[in-house]
Amino acid sequence: MDNLVKIFDTTLRDGEQSPGATMTASEKLEVARTLARMGVDVIEAGFPAASPDDLEAVKRIAMEVGRPSGDITRVPVICGLARTTQNDIDKCWEAVREAAHPRIHTFIATSDIHMKYKLKMERAQVEAKVAEMVAYAHSLCEDIEFSPEDAGRSDPEFLYRVLEIAIKAGATTLNIPDTVGYTMPDEFGALIAGIKKNTPGIENCVISVHCHNDLGLATANTLAGIRNGARQAEVTINGIGERAGNTALEEVVMTLHTRHQVLDLDTHIDTTQLARASKLVSNYTGMSVQPNKAIVGANAFAHEAGIHQDGMLKNHLTYEIMLPETVGVLQTRLVLGKHSGRHALKERLAALGYALDEDALNKVFDRFKTLADKKKTITDADIEALVSDESYQHKVIFGLDGLMVSCGTMGLPTATVRLVGPDGQTQVHASIGTGPVDAAFKAIDAIVHTSSTLVEFVIHAITEGIDALGEVTVRIESCDLPAVQDAQNETGQPRTFGGYGADTDIVVASAKAYLSALNKMLVASGQYGEVELPAYQTIR
Ligand code: KIV
Ligand code: ZN
Repeated sequence: MDNLVKIFDTTLRDGEQSPGATMTASEKLEVARTLARMGVDVIEAGFPAASPDDLEAVKRIAMEVGRPSGDITRVPVICGLARTTQNDIDKCWEAVREAAHPRIHTFIATSDIHMKYKLKMERAQVEAKVAEMVAYAHSLCEDIEFSPEDAGRSDPEFLYRVLEIAIKAGATTLNIPDTVGYTMPDEFGALIAGIKKNTPGIENCVISVHCHNDLGLATANTLAGIRNGARQAEVTINGIGERAGNTALEEVVMTLHTRHQVLDLDTHIDTTQLARASKLVSNYTGMSVQPNKAIVGANAFAHEAGIHQDGMLKNHLTYEIMLPETVGVLQTRLVLGKHSGRHALKERLAALGYALDEDALNKVFDRFKTLADKKKTITDADIEALVSDESYQHKVIFGLDGLMVSCGTMGLPTATVRLVGPDGQTQVHASIGTGPVDAAFKAIDAIVHTSSTLVEFVIHAITEGIDALGEVTVRIESCDLPAVQDAQNETGQPRTFGGYGADTDIVVASAKAYLSALNKMLVASGQYGEVELPAYQTIR
């Protein structure tokens, strides 16, 4: 169908590969399930040659999300990334082969600057490598995607030749990356038009676009590519990715949806799941979404100015180009209160898309009752925060058992923390710090005995009012674990881990978020064997 734009999601590959976006295997699986339910056509599940963990994670997604199952109506293609080497391609095939629709995505740089300084290869050598390795990948897998890395800065004539070679060797999707986010929409659109016009064999292939956001132009460039003939868009949830990120899935999808009259292009995406997916990825990675982020930011549908509010009351179309419900932003305010029972909570959770087992439901219900004692009205956002928080605060290795702080202007901020350790024993420690949060983190460090640096700490209130739940996301950088190899430039980056916590007490929420990040770091260190952080299954 010429008016269908395939959505290729690379949150788990280009997104997860970016600093700080590390996810555990079960979190990756839950993100993949969410993407599949949302209707994503292709899930790039990882870079199998990067590490044995990556390979395992992609394999699991291929087996559990890439095959027909009850709650996923259209089975997505499961794709893995590979450099143009036999080892990478073999590992990639091993990881994706169990999927109903496997794809190998192989790439090599084609810009003069990358070939000269990074690859140290001449054009003819790159051409030969493409012919050899695309053919090799195609001997294993029917569905091959090829990317000329840094296409945005490559000589177009050379690009046409390389793409023609890839097509002859068996590639059927040709992805054009603006790897460094350098091009402008008219240039990138012209590049796609030129490829469509000048590459022999391209008429039988899908042209794909993959843009980075270094100049804030990723979505504009992606749309320019689509308007010039691309029919696959490579995107990530919340636009996470290398440096300034990748094109945001939600922005492309909602532009095609909202401006359908002009563009006449469709996707398979169920837009009502966008807000949920955004929250899931933000919680799992610890990368918070800026409040004014298009589509999924906290303020994306808020109208503050008097003139705007007045217009909205008269007719919402005055200032609203899309309905919040269309992207899954819930408008319900008062849903439950202190007299609501377990059944009511269960029903509300189901309506929000959460299927919790009895144990998890009991835990969330206890939390709900405690919250209802402190807060008169419990909103959907509060309930979602409790579920997210509970899914993070399972005692995996170290669990929070108690916290007390003293702070203010009259003394040294002090925190006393009690944790339950892996052996079930409680340990208590008191520390001083520059403030109560710092003191609490120091006390936790003293018990857990790990070394990390806090690189991000974000706190915000979920709803308005003094009794609001506070939500905290943190990212920590490991000082003990070996650096991750960035597969494209082979430079090591320290490993970072995200954590999330919610509570009416912001110091408690902070301690929970910090502990959830530390627990992930401990899991990654392998000291505690094959522990897995649980991720709640959602049903929508
Ligand atoms: O940005 C890039 O060039 C990539 C390729 C591997 C597609 O991520
Ligand atoms: Zn990229």
